Amino acid sequence: MNVYKIAVIPGDGIGPEVMNESLKVLNKISELDGGFKFEFTHFPWGCKYYLETSEMMPTDGIDILSSYDAILLGAVGYPGVPDHISLRDLLLKIRHNFDEYINLRPVKLLKGAHCPLKNTETEDIDMTFIRENSEGEYYGTGAWLYKDTPEEVVVQDNVFSRKGCERVIRYAYELAEKEKKTLTSISKGNALNYSMVFWDQIFKEIGKEYPNVKTCNLLVDAAAMFMVKDPKRFQVVVTSNLFGDILTDLGAAIAGGMGLAAGANLNPEKKFPSMFEPIHGSAPDIAGKGIANPLAAIWSASQMLDFFGYEKWGKVLIEAIGDMLINHKDKLTPDQGGKASTSECADTLISLL
Ligand SMILES: NC(=O)c1ccc[n+]([C@@H]2O[C@H](COP(=O)([O-])OP(=O)(O)OC[C@H]3O[C@@H](n4cnc5c(N)ncnc54)[C@H](O)[C@@H]3O)[C@@H](O)[C@H]2O)c1
Repeated sequence: MNVYKIAVIPGDGIGPEVMNESLKVLNKISELDGGFKFEFTHFPWGCKYYLETSEMMPTDGIDILSSYDAILLGAVGYPGVPDHISLRDLLLKIRHNFDEYINLRPVKLLKGAHCPLKNTETEDIDMTFIRENSEGEYYGTGAWLYKDTPEEVVVQDNVFSRKGCERVIRYAYELAEKEKKTLTSISKGNALNYSMVFWDQIFKEIGKEYPNVKTCNLLVDAAAMFMVKDPKRFQVVVTSNLFGDILTDLGAAIAGGMGLAAGANLNPEKKFPSMFEPIHGSAPDIAGKGIANPLAAIWSASQMLDFFGYEKWGKVLIEAIGDMLINHKDKLTPDQGGKASTSECADTLISLL
């Protein structure tokens, strides 16, 4: 029996609501398989913890998490705590300290999911976004000079290292080659004359090692336009931290909404734990109402199963989500046009497994 130690950080708002359901699903899957199980340890870190302790997580939080096989995160951020603190002192701290340099976000329109684009078929939206997740525009250094004076100046550093760019771009080429897909690099070399010219150069250099992969380069503004006008041109996509963050929310919007969008923060070498999360936030507008869609969190649990090598179960979960969207519409949450509560939705999915 393989036993996986999972650190669970439900976080804020709807985070704990969707996390509860995701854990129920994972327990059911381990029961059905019989060959592996999960030991979940909960950590009450997040905005409530911050208001009590002035920290989003304890000082030795990273040390504590380092002994786990993976981390499941609900969502962090809540009115009353500035977003740059809640994001940076927990989520980004974990991504950076555990060198989770790949952010893998499927943008896949399942049959039955709502797509706001006209004349778009299910198979037209099937992308894998690989977002650089450790540096770039979210590196977090800079300066605030002459604060509160008329001469005030802020500088936010963009950090693109050769190592950082090479490893994410190589990961994307490997995936495109393995899956026989095209690879699109999204950058902005015309305006960002250091960082993005460097990115484009490295994309070209690494490409020489993968002559069979068909590639395309797009400026980020054109990419945003094409994601709406011609989404089927994208298969595997690689881009920087900031561009990937923004474009994958656009991806979520065209592929069923935030309630269906998942993301994995991977340390591919498995030196440190990887972290799996729905990409949505804590949704304060619906928190506590019991109507949050749990399917994004469940989709991210399927990414964890894939990462542990149980792709068969990952696929079963995605198929069950697809089944819900087609055959059990009344058991979906209101964001998907249903009337079910968070737990009714997840319980129906569990019954389909
Ligand atoms: N990874 C994270 O933890 C993460 C990501 C984004 C935002 N945040 C934080 O979350 C807070 C709220 O941010 P926001 O409002 O910009 O984004 P949000 O994703 O929380 O909500 C945006 C909209 O989508 C809806 N929505 C999101 N998830 C849903 C779900 N599972 N089911 C149904 N509807 C859902 C919300 O009701 C809201 O109308 C902020 O503090 C922000 O910093 C955290």
